[in-house]
Amino acid sequence: MTRTARTPVQAQLKFLADKDSPLLYVPSKGGGDQTEHLGNFATRTVEIHNAREELPSTSLDREGFMLTRHNSAVQDFYDDSQLDGIYHGEVAELLKDVTGAGHVEVFDDTRRSSSRALQRDRGIREPANIVHNDYTADSGARRLRDFFADRPEGLQQLGQRRFAIINVWRSIAGTVADQPLVMCDATTISDEDLVSVERRAEERTGEIQVALFNPLQRWYYFPDMRSDEVLLFKTFDSAVDGRTRFTLHSSFENPSAPGDAPARESLETRCLVFF
Ligand code: OGA
Ligand code: FE
Repeated sequence: MTRTARTPVQAQLKFLADKDSPLLYVPSKGGGDQTEHLGNFATRTVEIHNAREELPSTSLDREGFMLTRHNSAVQDFYDDSQLDGIYHGEVAELLKDVTGAGHVEVFDDTRRSSSRALQRDRGIREPANIVHNDYTADSGARRLRDFFADRPEGLQQLGQRRFAIINVWRSIAGTVADQPLVMCDATTISDEDLVSVERRAEERTGEIQVALFNPLQRWYYFPDMRSDEVLLFKTFDSAVDGRTRFTLHSSFENPSAPGDAPARESLETRCLVFF
């Protein structure tokens, strides 16, 4: 395998430039449409460090993300029945192992590709091109209540426990070169960098966070993520005790990727993780 990494790389990330104009985030549905964001967003060049070299060990409660090996028995990640029948159980076991959690509920799968043709053919979404975190303090807590809307006994049983929302992100094709994920070390984010934005999808209205640029932020990626690796990152934690609750991330155009690199195809699986 040729390593595409010559790190750190300089890349363009999209941040909120000011928080005075009205903000709104309307996610793409998939199939070739685009996510729309209202607000004054501007691109910044940032240095993106090689997490494999510079962060040999990371934690979900500190940096907010970690990479781990995972061999899945799934043959075809485009087959929903294999996600339900095989993958979700694997992910639940993995998260219990890694975090010590007692119970995991998988609630969402999103496939994305950087190829327009694949987006159209597969009906999937484009990479996320603004720096964001998927939940806010309010919307994370609401997601839990909505998940159990039809099962009040589930909420009764688990609702008192500390819980987190963790994304499990992986390639569903080969090694990732084009449009990898970039993560901000959560210990370098200050509360003032984060701005809540309504996320208006057809099926539900929620709230995400976008970010103002701050030179103290330190950005990382895992070059050449293989199909037997998963990136875990925490987008919400109900604990308010100093541990990381939110993790900023985006995708980026990787200047060190070969021009003929295959398109990225990925799956992110969102999980409610109870401790
Ligand atoms: C996510 C996410 C973006 C991407 O997994 O939460 O924002 O481009 N992914 O894969
Ligand atoms: Fe996200």
